Amino acid sequence: MFLILLILNDMIKLVTIVGARPQFIKAAALSRVIRDEFSHAVTEIIVHTGQHYDPSMSDVFFREMQIPEPGYNLGIGSDTHGIQTGKMIEGIEEVILKEKPHGVVVYGDTNSTLAGALAASKLHIPVIHIEAGLRSFNKQMPEEINRITADHVSTLLFSPTTTGLENLKNEGIIHSEEPPYSFDRQGVFHCGDLMYDNTLFFSKMAAESSSILTDLDLKGKPFILATVHRPANTDDSSNLRSILAALNTISIETGFPVILPLHPRTTAIVERLKAENVPELNAPSSQLHLIPAVSFMDMLNLESGARVILTDSGGVQKEAWFMEKPVVVLRNETEWVEIISSGNGSLTGASTEKIIQATLKYLEAPPQHFPPLFGNGQAAREILKVLTTTRWM
Ligand code: UD1
Repeated sequence: MFLILLILNDMIKLVTIVGARPQFIKAAALSRVIRDEFSHAVTEIIVHTGQHYDPSMSDVFFREMQIPEPGYNLGIGSDTHGIQTGKMIEGIEEVILKEKPHGVVVYGDTNSTLAGALAASKLHIPVIHIEAGLRSFNKQMPEEINRITADHVSTLLFSPTTTGLENLKNEGIIHSEEPPYSFDRQGVFHCGDLMYDNTLFFSKMAAESSSILTDLDLKGKPFILATVHRPANTDDSSNLRSILAALNTISIETGFPVILPLHPRTTAIVERLKAENVPELNAPSSQLHLIPAVSFMDMLNLESGARVILTDSGGVQKEAWFMEKPVVVLRNETEWVEIISSGNGSLTGASTEKIIQATLKYLEAPPQHFPPLFGNGQAAREILKVLTTTRWM
């Protein structure tokens, strides 16, 4: 009871766990609204696990999006899933024991999410899972294991879509009508998508500050944007080669440049394929441009200028929708099923034929209607309202 009153009347102390690029982006939205509107009620300590450590995958996002400096950087880096996650749990547990937060915020579905959710729930600290309820129904993906586990040990779950709410319900996670919420009486909320908050907030800034379209000579010209980083498409180099073959053919058939900013995972495989002299990386008339990973402002500008976006990233699928662009999803299933059922997105897997067909179809007849599936750009505010006005301990 004492703790309930403390939370309702006093500052709420949150520890936020981030580690991978999409989490820096999501955290930026919540941290911004804490700073601008809830600083009287909420303090936040950011813990960076170190999962993404290259400056182009980490520092640039903190700088550009004005994310508060992490209070802790665990510097864990890459390893096998077990070692990476294990080390993170150990580091996060230490921080929680020292900081004694009221709640631990985790985002999405990465190994950093899983580690934060396990460390906190084992210490009986409420877990707040943002981007809850999403499912690909493919447990071969490490992300699917991470998100299912995080959802089941969370006290407060914020889902960006109604499909997410349904998925949770089907797994027995149902909103408990009467607070206080707890591990066994979870609070489930539909709040919209933080990434939409960010796209709205940063798009104008990106148009002014990013010079990527000029630098790549794309301003006012038609081009196609692609990203590939999932293990299923990179670790299996035949899938990567199949995707590269499609991108080559598309660039040759349309004459449009295809811009492919590379995740470090993909860069490593591309280097290997280059050394093997594979034809997909040597088509003479191709306009396939492989460039290093780009910043968020550059990415927003590329997305807003592209005719079609091809991706296996979850975040980029949604940003395509926010920018009203058709998206070719280089996977066999997606968590963002609404994009596919609307017809504005197509699932192609790594099939060269399907990728080419879907891209050409969208170039010929671009979709026109993008209803607001992901909220109204106020997700961070909605989440903070719940955190500051309901009882969750
Ligand atoms: C992680 C998430 C995924 C998310 C993605 C966004 C998991 C299981 N997956 O995948 O959900 O969509 O982030 O990018 O957590 N590497 C570098 N430099 C870096 C970061 C990674 O070189 O800054 C290399 C690593 O050495 C490793 C590979 O990239 O070989 C993959 O890194 P990893 O941490 O496994 O996660 P991601 O594939 O990025």
